[in-house]
Amino acid sequence: MWKGRFSQDTSSLVQQFGESISYDWRLFPHDIAGSIAHARAQKNAGLLSGEEFSQIESGLLDIKADIVSGNFEFKASLEDIHMNIEAELTRRIGPAGAKLHTARSRNDQVATDTRLYCRTEIDGLLLETTSLQLALLDRADQYAATVIPGYTHLQRGQPVTAGHHFLAYVEMLERDKSRLTDCRKRLNISPLGSGALAGSTINLDRRAIAAELGFDGVTHNSMDAIADRDYIAELLFAISLCGAHLSRLSEDLILWCTAEFAFASLSDAHTTGSSLMPQKKNPDVCELTRGKTGRLVGNLMNLLATLKGLPLTYNRDLQEDKPPLFDSVDTLRLILAVNTEMIAAMELNGEKCRAAAADPLLLATDLADYLVNKGIPFRHAHELVGKAVAAAIATGTPLDQLDLAAIDPAYGPDARQVFSLERALKARSNPGSPSIENVRAEISRWHALLRP
Ligand code: ARG
Repeated sequence: MWKGRFSQDTSSLVQQFGESISYDWRLFPHDIAGSIAHARAQKNAGLLSGEEFSQIESGLLDIKADIVSGNFEFKASLEDIHMNIEAELTRRIGPAGAKLHTARSRNDQVATDTRLYCRTEIDGLLLETTSLQLALLDRADQYAATVIPGYTHLQRGQPVTAGHHFLAYVEMLERDKSRLTDCRKRLNISPLGSGALAGSTINLDRRAIAAELGFDGVTHNSMDAIADRDYIAELLFAISLCGAHLSRLSEDLILWCTAEFAFASLSDAHTTGSSLMPQKKNPDVCELTRGKTGRLVGNLMNLLATLKGLPLTYNRDLQEDKPPLFDSVDTLRLILAVNTEMIAAMELNGEKCRAAAADPLLLATDLADYLVNKGIPFRHAHELVGKAVAAAIATGTPLDQLDLAAIDPAYGPDARQVFSLERALKARSNPGSPSIENVRAEISRWHALLRP
């Protein structure tokens, strides 16, 4: 298709090195939609007759049907999806096919296709992220009143509920969705008409093409439009961060499923055994979510490294944007689906959670707050409670059994009341804190938002 000035055939190694059809074939629905919109604009500009346009449109739709049903042979000699489709169209319909590339370049074509691909995939990712949020919300509902220790430094800190813990991930996923939505908004403008880099001397109605493809407008600078891959970098970042969130959830679940914690168990359908140790039930889904997140981050770095050295406008390096893009989208979609299933089937062990939450040391901060309410400055209260904790450890007496008044007269006879988990949670009633009432209100808020 570009052989006019060449007298030698392309080396077969160069063909193998330069082809992208082995992966960019996936862009075919978008490539065909873009070509139909482009052809319609050609017809409206008088460049194609009505008959020629109909031939092109039905030819492209036939090719699409053949690709979908597996009856299309992609050729590496035709490099990429754009040339594979155009060559086959011309083979099928003759001269009208040869007019399609008027006022267009593969450079604005590929930029259009990848924007459309990203837009479609973002819509899928948004739905799948909501499904995972709903699975987490159901667990939050089920375990709204199950008290567990909250951790910092992986050391027991203060009491929370499992519902509050699950809702933390619902929050993260909501931010992931807002990043995806934001990225979608920014990418949804049409680069078609930017040509190879400098537009075209043949003016087609860019706005009409954009409207047909569901874009909100057209790009304003042909050079930027051809060179721009920001939308892919943004999407890969949004995907990486979502992966990082789910990797953290995985880490929580891996810990919770250990014999040492034993807060949670995953279903048989979402765990694997060991070929050697018969007792094992391994949280592979969690480990693979954590592991695959490394790939998501790698794909983002891959693209940024490709972009950073490129002069304007198109450089063939840009063809390397698609493997990381496709891999990240596919990987996150699978992560979301499998985690949704796994979370829907997981269970908490109420007894183990209760036993861990019964540790009176979880309420050491509450004891300091008690002293603050008696008028003692917090720093001093902190030190007094620290001494009580040291005494508890030294004498092997649980903190709630100590004779606190003997340690300091600031402790009144009511100090013991601090050691009620029910009271401790009830007191955490400020917005954002984990009182059971708050968690229930948050669950209702999320239900209204996610299941309107
Ligand atoms: N397959 C190419 C890519 O993905 C399409 C654009 C090719 N443009 C060119 N001038 N060789 O980037």
